[in-house]
Amino acid sequence: MKKWIAFLAVAVVLTSLCGLARAGERLKIGLALPTQQEERWVRDMYAMQGEAEKHNVDLRVAIARNDQSQQNNQIDQLLSQGIKVLILAPHDGEGAAVAVNKAHEDGVKVIAYDRLIMGTDVDVYMSFDNVRVGELMGEWITKRVPKGDYIPMSGAPTDNNAKLFKQGHMVYIQPLIDKGDIKVILDQPVIDWQPANAQKIVENALTLANNKVDAILAPNDGTASGAISALAAQGLAGKVPVTGMDAELSAAQRVVQGTQSITVLKDTRKLGEEAIRLAIRMARGQSIDDAINGSVDNGVQQTPSVLLDAEVVDKDNIDRILIDSGYLTREQVYGSN
Ligand code: BGC
Repeated sequence: MKKWIAFLAVAVVLTSLCGLARAGERLKIGLALPTQQEERWVRDMYAMQGEAEKHNVDLRVAIARNDQSQQNNQIDQLLSQGIKVLILAPHDGEGAAVAVNKAHEDGVKVIAYDRLIMGTDVDVYMSFDNVRVGELMGEWITKRVPKGDYIPMSGAPTDNNAKLFKQGHMVYIQPLIDKGDIKVILDQPVIDWQPANAQKIVENALTLANNKVDAILAPNDGTASGAISALAAQGLAGKVPVTGMDAELSAAQRVVQGTQSITVLKDTRKLGEEAIRLAIRMARGQSIDDAINGSVDNGVQQTPSVLLDAEVVDKDNIDRILIDSGYLTREQVYGSN
């Protein structure tokens, strides 16, 4: 009898110790990023790590290399580590749906981060107003070059953002094509957003057009760098307006040097920090309705969305938008002399 009492006492103590350990455990949040090919994804990650640290959150990060099956495997690992919320920037917006469904089976909520996940009931989408981002680029380039021969590229076909940006570009470009003012030399998507692929597209277009090109719509800074390499090989860098997006350091440098006309700042610091704050609230079962400011169709639902604004950066406003805001330093952009 005494033995039993002692056994029970030990069991009670152990159970309550486990309870204590659980109560003191840090909240685990998973972050699955599609790539680090672009500088922006590194910045998103840093912003999230900083915010997670502030809130004593254990942020588990997995980075795929533009490969959805790799990303889905990484998400399985994150789920097995006991994450409560998954922040998922998919490589392939369609192919990531299975990972969302698995997370939901485990009771884990999912934030589609920057890129929408299609065909599933993802809990919330956090990004920028990407059609508007596309419009900013289309508006700028058509103002600068209202008539002429264009190379309007688009981003990776696996990325829903590429479609949204394109939709925005075409709000301004299509009416001028219809009027006959703009002629399209070549309109192609850039597979996996790869700069080398963009360079090839522009090389081919330059050949087709005998180098008579008046404007290049590059959908991000990486593809702009590829386009500018192709132009440089023909002695045309700085002579043909080229757009971009992401406010990467090398793009900012090209803007001040004059080989790239604009980039677009989508402030990844704000997006990353807000994602962590919302993930914490979701993990606690709190409503995030007050943060929702839009909805985006993903084929099966109007996904509740948090959409931030973006800004065009050119030579004239770069100091104010990128340097005064602390996104980049003056030394980085202009060099130390
Ligand atoms: C992002 C861009 C990025 C691109 C390539 C898009 O989904 O919105 O900021 O440049 O992916 O990674």
